[in-house]
Amino acid sequence: MYQALYRTRRPEVFSEVLGQKHIIKILKHQIETDTVSHAYLFCGTRGTGKTTVARLLAKAVNCSSKGERPCGRCPSCEAIARGSFMDVIEIDAASNNGVDNIRELRESVKYPPQAGRKKVYIVDEVHMLSSGAFNALLKTLEEPPENVIFILCTTEPQKLPQTILSRCMRLDFKRVPQDVLAADMRQIAEERGVNITEGAIRLLAANADGSVRDGLSILDQVLASGDSEIDRDTVLDYLGTVGTEFFTELTELVSQRSTGEALALLDKALSDGKDAKQLMKDWNAHYRNLMITKFMRDPEDLLNMSEDNIKKVREQSSHISFEEIDEAIRRISKTINDARWSTQPRILMELDIVALSGAKGRYMQVEKPAVQPETVIREAPKEAAAVHTPVPEPVKTLEPEPVKAAEPEPVKAAEAEPEPVKAPETDPAKATEVHREDVPQTPATPIESEPETGQKEEARITELSKLWEEVMDEGETTGGSFNLIRSWTRLKSLRQNTYTVSVATEFAAKYVREKLDTIDKIISSVLKRSVRGSVVVEDPEDIVEESAPSQDYAKEIRDAIGIDIKLED
Ligand SMILES: Nc1ncnc2c1ncn2[C@@H]1O[C@H](COP(=O)(O)OP(=O)(O)OP(=O)(O)O)[C@@H](O)[C@H]1O
Ligand SMILES: [Mg+2]
Ligand SMILES: [Zn+2]
Repeated sequence: MYQALYRTRRPEVFSEVLGQKHIIKILKHQIETDTVSHAYLFCGTRGTGKTTVARLLAKAVNCSSKGERPCGRCPSCEAIARGSFMDVIEIDAASNNGVDNIRELRESVKYPPQAGRKKVYIVDEVHMLSSGAFNALLKTLEEPPENVIFILCTTEPQKLPQTILSRCMRLDFKRVPQDVLAADMRQIAEERGVNITEGAIRLLAANADGSVRDGLSILDQVLASGDSEIDRDTVLDYLGTVGTEFFTELTELVSQRSTGEALALLDKALSDGKDAKQLMKDWNAHYRNLMITKFMRDPEDLLNMSEDNIKKVREQSSHISFEEIDEAIRRISKTINDARWSTQPRILMELDIVALSGAKGRYMQVEKPAVQPETVIREAPKEAAAVHTPVPEPVKTLEPEPVKAAEPEPVKAAEAEPEPVKAPETDPAKATEVHREDVPQTPATPIESEPETGQKEEARITELSKLWEEVMDEGETTGGSFNLIRSWTRLKSLRQNTYTVSVATEFAAKYVREKLDTIDKIISSVLKRSVRGSVVVEDPEDIVEESAPSQDYAKEIRDAIGIDIKLED
């Protein structure tokens, strides 16, 4: 029976592990000096080697070789690889997440190892344990029996209670670099006697996005065709990407500022089942192609495209300015990064289309609105409504509103902000505040008190936004989707035990609410006191940005797609 590559190619010894050098170094040292910890936490992106390395460590502590451990060949090593070694117990917390499961585990922990030197418990997806189960596990981690090692694995360490984190040695698995993945894939193809072009390898490795397992799965599918020659097109076919034609057209529409038509074209591709993240990567690659053909007479080698397609790209690059290309590449690259953690990459791509097509008209829109209303109404994709992005809206809002724009109302923010000391907390007129039940209302600390002067107000806002930035940074390092929250929210107020996050739409609020527990944890650890947050949906009109032009622009996009955004100047 055929076995998938990612199963047949699981490393049996440390030297076969791709990347993760920082982790292997620590573990090897601990093994050599017999200082292995009793509890580890392996964190990191899926498919980067957590379970693999956990098994290697289990082997190493039970390996009977005199030389390098694990040897991969002794009876213990082989039994562990087969999954038939009694003292290595793998538990999938996703399906055994109850207190009873952990109690059972605690019982079994009491018995000494039977076949080997150490009993090793590998708990996969440990963040899925119920809170009762966490408590039960904690007891075991507190009084670790002799000869027992726990290896907890998770892709979401931010979901673990601090009590667990503080009892484990934490090791973070990194995404594996593209050239390392490429070299591995090249070798696999060679072993199979398949001729694969460099372009195909590069595309495969890039698509794996740092996950070895994902890379192997895609390669597996491509190899399954049985072809002895594989080039970039074979891979493209498999990935289901759309061709140069599509991106030429999308770029053309954006360049002509036909926002509505561009959004409709994207909608069509997505309805055909194309993947938004893939589309973003390929669109960015298209802009790169435009750049290369602009500056090179014979770009064939660099582009790895058919003659026909190069001709199309060359034709387009002759009338698209370098500034446009530059702006697009910078913007889309950033979005690709943001989209990594996003469950709504479509919205981000739509935002790019709106921004890139409108951006050039930013200072010219008084003379010429970016979109003709009729066009948009006719062509706006229906499906867009399903993800709460009211696409037809740009009609109204892409049209300039010069009068309003010239008059920002900075005072309004202060009015909308309830005065924490003198007055009891009341909802601002246009806000719907949602408190979670047991949020205590306590007096304000100095930085939160009502300022008497504009300067103080400014300092307070700066203080809050600095804190918020820090929270977002912290959130991102623990691997959450904070890029989106960063662009949708601002910290409106902060008291002793509570804080309020302001968002512009109900849709964004729902998303932020889901993350509120995580944000509570981060903000509490930053402030070193326990705080709980609530979300307030505010009319975008009430949210005042610092400078008028960018406020206009932010509002324009905000109204266009229903997301509150904050612009970086
Ligand atoms: N660093 C790596 N070096 C070599 N192969 C790897 C590496 N990471 C993953 N693989 C390959 O991917 C397969 C799955 O890896 P593994 O189960 O260790 O990933 P994981 O990090 O535990 O993922 P998940 O978070 O989904 O549990 C392995 O069998 C192996 O083929
Ligand atoms: Mg795993
Ligand atoms: Zn061995």
